[in-house]
Amino acid sequence: MATKPELRDIALQARANAYAPYSNFQVGAAVEMADGSVFGGANVENAAYPQTICAERSAIVSAVAAGKGGKGTLKRVYVVADPIATPCGGCRSVMGEFGTHDTEIIIANTAGQERVFTLKQLLPFSFELGDDPSL
Ligand code: THU
Repeated sequence: MATKPELRDIALQARANAYAPYSNFQVGAAVEMADGSVFGGANVENAAYPQTICAERSAIVSAVAAGKGGKGTLKRVYVVADPIATPCGGCRSVMGEFGTHDTEIIIANTAGQERVFTLKQLLPFSFELGDDPSL
């Protein structure tokens, strides 16, 4: 298991590669998968704005492309931005695809302030195909 400072380092390194000429808001992420592997991601913007990919999804798709995906494989996500950023709805949903209720999401700024959430806190009542939400 990676330490939190290790995850933070990977996220910061990835953030240095962010491509954000439109917003000028650089975001880095690191994800830890079930086997302990860690992948970084950065936001990659596009002139056609909606084609932008967030740092969190960038890291998750790297992990999946490397063969580390599958249900319940996403253990931890570390996100760093200035100011601190909470994951967008789309990223929360993608986290839900690979994570569990207990997946830990750490959001931080470059000064080192951190807040920790579970995926259940950030994505309550999430959609699951065939799942009866029993409302
Ligand atoms: N962004 C992320 O990469 N992650 C977040 O959690 C929030 C937003 C990116 C998308 C876009 O490139 C820029 O930040 C401004 O929205």
